[in-house]
Amino acid sequence: MTTTSTLITGIGELTTNDEHLGTITDAALVLSGRRVEWVGPATRAPDADERIDVEGRAALPGWVDSHTHLVFAGDRSAEFAARLAGRPYDAGGIAVTVETTRAASDDALAATLRRLTEEAVNQGTTCLETKTGYGLTVAEETRAARLAAGFVDEVTFLGAHVVPPGWDTDDYVALVCGEMLDAVAPHVRWADVFCERGAFDADAASAVLTAAAKAGLGLRVHGNQLGAGPGVRVAVEHGAASVDHCTYLTGSDVDALANSETVATLLPACDLSTRQPLPDARALLDAGATVALASNCNPGSSYTTSMAFCVATAVLQMRMTVEEAVRAATWGGARALRRESGEGAVGVLRPGARADVHVLDAPSAAHLAYRPGVPLTHAVWREGSRAR
Ligand code: NIG
Repeated sequence: MTTTSTLITGIGELTTNDEHLGTITDAALVLSGRRVEWVGPATRAPDADERIDVEGRAALPGWVDSHTHLVFAGDRSAEFAARLAGRPYDAGGIAVTVETTRAASDDALAATLRRLTEEAVNQGTTCLETKTGYGLTVAEETRAARLAAGFVDEVTFLGAHVVPPGWDTDDYVALVCGEMLDAVAPHVRWADVFCERGAFDADAASAVLTAAAKAGLGLRVHGNQLGAGPGVRVAVEHGAASVDHCTYLTGSDVDALANSETVATLLPACDLSTRQPLPDARALLDAGATVALASNCNPGSSYTTSMAFCVATAVLQMRMTVEEAVRAATWGGARALRRESGEGAVGVLRPGARADVHVLDAPSAAHLAYRPGVPLTHAVWREGSRAR
């Protein structure tokens, strides 16, 4: 196979997320095959097989959406409408999606995965994680993991999403930690647990994380979404790569995150859609924690694939600077997936990184918040291929 190189030049502002390269004005990039080959000022750019002038537009690494739930069937807009009329979100609707997902064919689930991943890529997302968690039987969780692996970069086993109706909690945890984990582990890199009142308590979550680590999986936790609780503590104690939601944090949760390698993944679209407060990103950043932003696309609590919406919300409502929000939605997501360094790194543009580039129809990344709600994606390269 011949490798074609592409010179993208005329970049008005290039966000690299590389500590040495920083943000470059009047920049250029060379992509070769699936990798970035060269990054620097346009005046020093080498030749390439093809040349594309983006005429002063801004470019950045593609969004890294490190938290989604895309293997589902059905629609919960009625639940959403009821919420807007005052009914609280308590994650009870997960059982509704479990029922519709179990009843759906492989083709129907794959069609939804295809539609949503294409929708995300068209808006600049180039690396995606998704979870199982709407199957909750050995066969259904395995099916979800297998189907997801055909569409996304990272798959997470979330058998411990909720205890399915009719099950005793201890029996279900034993199933998740035993037969279900054995069946799903070959298809996934990560395991996750919803550690929250009404889902799994600290002991059950610890049991799931211990079993998953023993099976060689990386760990993630859904925590502190609906109230203060043990999610962050459990995640940090188990060395999870991320704890996601972080809507209700105590000072000691913030300190624990700041003194750990666990990324705080914030999901502002979910907090808006469930009428929760937005997380205190400022406290996390000021304490030195690593923050990621992700869409949490799912049919119940956050039905959006728009990382730009998350970034705009973070800037306009969560007191994050544009630089912090863009970094959290790119490098932060990559760090949450442990993909931010080495050959083929994502969320960063440097020689050797994956050729994932998002060109905005705007002269600077600030426009993502300055022009909220406006579709600003001009061009996307995913693993070196033009995806839009
Ligand atoms: O991340 N918190 C648990 N899981 C999803 C909600 C899924 C649903 O309501 O269907 C979340 O918000």
